[in-house]
Amino acid sequence: MSDLVGQIERIREDALAAVAAARTTQELEDARVRFLGRKAELPNLLRGVADLPPQERGAVGKLANEVRSGADAAITARGAELELEELRERLEHDRVDVTLPGTPPAPIGRLHLLTATRREIEDVFCGLGFTVVEGPEVELVSYNFDALNHDPAHPARARTDTFYVEAPAGAPPRADEVLLRTHTSPMQTRAMQRQPPPIAIVVPGRVYRRDSDATHTPQFHQIEGLAVDEDITLADLKGTLLAFARAIFGDEREVRLRPHFFPFTEPSVEVDVSCFQCGGSGTRTPAHERCNLCKGTGWLEILGSGMVDPNVFAWVRDHGYDPERHQGFAFGMGIERIAMLKHGVPDLRLFYDNDVRFLRQFG
Ligand code: PHE
Repeated sequence: MSDLVGQIERIREDALAAVAAARTTQELEDARVRFLGRKAELPNLLRGVADLPPQERGAVGKLANEVRSGADAAITARGAELELEELRERLEHDRVDVTLPGTPPAPIGRLHLLTATRREIEDVFCGLGFTVVEGPEVELVSYNFDALNHDPAHPARARTDTFYVEAPAGAPPRADEVLLRTHTSPMQTRAMQRQPPPIAIVVPGRVYRRDSDATHTPQFHQIEGLAVDEDITLADLKGTLLAFARAIFGDEREVRLRPHFFPFTEPSVEVDVSCFQCGGSGTRTPAHERCNLCKGTGWLEILGSGMVDPNVFAWVRDHGYDPERHQGFAFGMGIERIAMLKHGVPDLRLFYDNDVRFLRQFG
């Protein structure tokens, strides 16, 4: 018996020493298997207790059980300590900042050339102090034409030129007809009704006309500009458009204003930018052949504009615009036209065919 007791005491010492020496939860688990696992010495001894003489069984069994539960408790206690230590260490070293943005996905696709061009134009005007606003594509005739000083007999009002929206059957007669806006200019009046002077806005958006050929689609995009204050002159218009033309077409560009007519600006001008392909000379070196982009003229027409007609301010007099005090300029350009000129796109319809071989050349 003394022999057995001695063995058990030795196991107790070894087990407690191994538990105390364990530096990691893995080492501790190894110790547990070694001393308490199914094939370990102590459980074997316990199984042998049944074969002992009856008077010895009680004392040996009790001791062996004590040693087992003592080792078990030591393992649990040391386990808790080690887990805490390991957690502390992980917190110390594995610092993951969960507030950092995740790895961004690889970019898929690109902006459509018209979207990219619109944003580029918006950026230029934002840099000049303009704000971007948008307005309805389904518009009232009064905003699209009347507030913009169009005569009731103006040809653009014709059913053959403009998409009118029919009133639902049985609807009460409307004071105002509804149409798909033919230009972004109706937002001039809407914006001035919303905000007293000074105002400086650009208005991108879709517009609709009954036209369809290589240079016209029934739906296209414009950007309107409007700036109103007490001391705005034609020189401000020219300077603004020069800055725009240089930002889009290159630092060497010049602009020229040609007299024109729009019902809602007076005076009205069409604006040309010097051709960026031939540098404005109209000819191409070295062969001196005619520049195909500007057709030899040296100039490219880019937009219509002018000084806001006092009759337009009359519509927003109640909103702080006084035709005697305020002046302003307005302009309107086609986004497709700017993109075609800048990127040498030969046919307007390419923008809408959605042929990726065309689209992926840009952006
Ligand atoms: N709305 C005019 C058009 O579509 C362009 C324009 C805008 C002209 C503003 C003058 C001032 O042709």
